[in-house]
Amino acid sequence: MPPESRPMSYSRGEISTIVMPHMQNVLGDLFGGNLMALVDQAAAVAAIRHAGGPAVTAMIDRVDFRERIPVGALVTCVGTVDYVGNSSMDITVEVYAENPSSGERRHTHTAHMVFVAINETGKPKRVPRLVPETPEEHARFERAREHRERTRRA
Ligand SMILES: CC(C)(COP(=O)(O)OP(=O)(O)OC[C@H]1O[C@@H](n2cnc3c(N)ncnc32)[C@H](O)[C@@H]1OP(=O)(O)O)[C@@H](O)C(=O)NCCC(=O)NCCS
Repeated sequence: MPPESRPMSYSRGEISTIVMPHMQNVLGDLFGGNLMALVDQAAAVAAIRHAGGPAVTAMIDRVDFRERIPVGALVTCVGTVDYVGNSSMDITVEVYAENPSSGERRHTHTAHMVFVAINETGKPKRVPRLVPETPEEHARFERAREHRERTRRA
């Protein structure tokens, strides 16, 4: 049985990989669809950890493709649960690309999505309350709350 609440830091999900040749587009960079799969996986790690069980992608709100990522780069996707409703979780995924030769690391993409926790029959299930602890976490929480109010009202 999941607890009543979990700290925001508990569910932070990180996945890393190398951009392999089979992941490239015709320009020799990471194909957008492959990037989306990595983003979805990092978000799923965070959502499933927070929910303490299965969760599904309900909505991809926004993805900012700021920079291309070349083949050979090391890619890390960091997913954070920023806000929760009853069964829904607002998640931000930040993508970083690292040049393995120089060690230079750049923030290349940001994605916002909503996951919903589900029970054994696939129906929405209540998730623990989210507890931000640090000033940065409180700021994330407040930004996500305002974003949810703005977008759900529209
Ligand atoms: C997501 C899903 C579980 C929602 O089920 P539902 O019975 O329609 O859910 P409800 O309308 O009762 O809403 C449940 C919660 O989901 C949220 N939600 C549902 N659809 C949403 C959407 N498109 N965007 C944002 N939130 C959404 C609701 O706001 C609600 O949040 P709350 O519990 O925090 O108040 C269901 O639509 C589903 O299984 N979709 C397919 C998911 C999928 O295949 N994903 C890809 C593979 S992982």
